[in-house]
Amino acid sequence: MTKHEIVEKNLGLMVILIVVAISFGGLVEIVPLFFQKETTQPVAGIKPYPALELEGRDVYIKEGCVGCHSQMIRPLRAEVERYGHYSVAGESVYDHPFLWGSKRTGPDLARVGQRYSDEWHRAHLYNPRDVVPESIMPAYPHLMDNVLDGKDTAQKMESLRLVGVPYTDEQIQNAAAEVKGKTEMDALVAYLQGLGTALTTKR
Ligand code: HEC
Repeated sequence: MTKHEIVEKNLGLMVILIVVAISFGGLVEIVPLFFQKETTQPVAGIKPYPALELEGRDVYIKEGCVGCHSQMIRPLRAEVERYGHYSVAGESVYDHPFLWGSKRTGPDLARVGQRYSDEWHRAHLYNPRDVVPESIMPAYPHLMDNVLDGKDTAQKMESLRLVGVPYTDEQIQNAAAEVKGKTEMDALVAYLQGLGTALTTKR
């Protein structure tokens, strides 16, 4: 019996060795990231989402935009020429959870901020075909009608502060007032307009 046969014919042993092999691979890939500054330090100029943008981010999550849009520009020439500077880890440190996505039915949105006017976004979200005739993106007219009450915004910020997002007491106190009465459309557009603007986008 060769040494390898011993492993192959002993299921328990094989399971243990597989677990050891996979855990080792995981450790080698993941653990160093905790100690690399560039993956844990915010990039210069990045700020925690203001109250309205934070609510907009939740609308983005709720509506499932991440199912069609990524927010991660890869360091490949074609991507950088189309979207701008590739995404760096330090831009996502205040994102809990991050929204990098894994599918692009539509374009990447990591640097869509300030690329279009607020009016363009409103028209586009209300009915994408009004501004991009060939678009297959769904329409989101209800965002115009859904009004935010801002009741939970402060609590959301407090929770984020627990995991390291540096919100000030003042920001948390003013959160509800900043959000109350705005529509989900206002919040989502504010969020989109802030995306990727901390790093200079050379295009
Ligand atoms: C079924 C897939 C799908 C979903 C879901 C979807 N989109 Fe899109 N999106 C697209 C496609 C395709 C395009 C390109 C055509 C166009 O501009 O309408 C696009 C374009 C865009 C653009 C313009 C990007 C650019 O650089 O020109 C923005 C902004 C956008 N989507 C935001 C959103 C938001 C916000 C949501 C969620 C409320 C969302 N999308 C949901 C498919 C989708």
